[in-house]
Amino acid sequence: MFFDKECIYLDESATSRFKPNCVIKRVEKELKNSANAGRGGHKAAIRALESIEECRDSVIRATFDCDVILTKSCTEALNIAILGGDYRGEVLTTVYEHNSVLRPLERLKRKGIRVKYISAPDGIVTPEILKTNLSSDTSLVCIQEMSNVTGKIQPIDALGNLLSNYGIPFLVDGAQSLGRTDCDYSGVSMLAGAGHKGLHGPQGTGFLCVRKGIRLTPLLCGGTGTFSAGLNQPADIPEGFEAGTQNAPGYAGLSEGIKWTLKNKRRINKKITLLSEKALSALKAIDGVTLYSDEPNGVISFNVGDLSSSEVADIFDKDYSIAVRSGIHCAPLIHKSMGTLKRGAVRASFGYGNKSSDIDVLVAAIKDILNRK
Ligand code: ALA
Repeated sequence: MFFDKECIYLDESATSRFKPNCVIKRVEKELKNSANAGRGGHKAAIRALESIEECRDSVIRATFDCDVILTKSCTEALNIAILGGDYRGEVLTTVYEHNSVLRPLERLKRKGIRVKYISAPDGIVTPEILKTNLSSDTSLVCIQEMSNVTGKIQPIDALGNLLSNYGIPFLVDGAQSLGRTDCDYSGVSMLAGAGHKGLHGPQGTGFLCVRKGIRLTPLLCGGTGTFSAGLNQPADIPEGFEAGTQNAPGYAGLSEGIKWTLKNKRRINKKITLLSEKALSALKAIDGVTLYSDEPNGVISFNVGDLSSSEVADIFDKDYSIAVRSGIHCAPLIHKSMGTLKRGAVRASFGYGNKSSDIDVLVAAIKDILNRK
C-alpha cells in the first residue's frame, strides 16, 4: 500500500490534505456510534441527529444567518441552487466559473433561459462592471468567490450590496474561499460550500446556505423521515433536500473542521499568504515560467517552457513526488480567456500543512526541468 507521507502535496484546491486531529477523532467516534439520523426515535438516532444539527450551526457561524442544506459536495449545492430555483429571462455569470456552475446553467438554457458570461480586464468583477451588465431580465447572478485557477478573489460584499438594492438573487460559489476570506455575505441569497477544502472537513461533505424565505424545489426524491405518508417530495428546507441516509460521520467531522478553522483562521491565512508570496516571487524570477496568478491567495497557476501542463505534472509526480493538478481544472472558459484551453496550466495550491521548504523543492524541480531541455 502506498502511503505518500513524503509526497509534497500542493493540491489543496482539489482537497485539503491537512486535517486537524479533532476532525479525525470525531469521524472515528461517530463511525463507532453509527445510527441513522432522523430515521428513528431511539437515543442513538437522536444523538446522530444532534451531530448533524451541530454541523448546521457551525456552517451558520462560518457564513451568515441562513437555512443550511447539507449536501455531499459544493457541486450538489450549486445544482440545487441553479436547477431548483424558478428563474426566467437571463442569468448572469462570469467566464471564471467552474463546471459545477457552467454545466447546470447550460441545462437551464433548455428552459429558454439565456446565460450571459461576463469578464473583467484584470479578472475582478467590480460593482460597476456588474451594473452595466444587469438588465430588467436578470433573474439570477452566479459568481465564484475565489478562482480555483488563479486564486483571484471577487468583491462579493460589494457585489451583494449592489444586487440586493436591485432585488436580484445572488448565488455565490464559495468552494475555494470558505475558511479563507472575511466576507459577511450580507447581500448574498445563496452560498454553496465544500466541506473538504478550506474548512478542513472530510470529503463527501458540502452545503448550501439559503437566505431565509427563499423557496427551492428539491432535485432528489426519497425518504426524508418527515411527512412519510405522502407520496410527493416535501420541499421544506432542509429535510426535503436531504433525501436518503445522511453522512453523519462526515458532517460531525466537518463541524469540528469548521470550529478549528474559525479558531485558527488568522494563523492559516498568514501561513498561506507567506507561502504564496514566496512562490510567486520565485516563479516570476525564472525565465521560461509563464505565470497566470498574481495574488498570494494559495492558488498559483503556471506553465513551464513549452511543455504541456500534464507533462510537467507527471514529471513532478514521478521524479520529485510533488502533487499538483494540471489541465483545465474543470474551468474551460477561464482557460479559454487565458489562451490555455489546449495546453492547460500547472496549478500549485497551498494549505496549512505546507512548509516553506515545499516551495524550495517546487522551484528547484522547475529549474531542473528547464535545464533538461
Ligand atoms: N474543483 C476542484 C479543483 O479545482 C476539484 O481542483
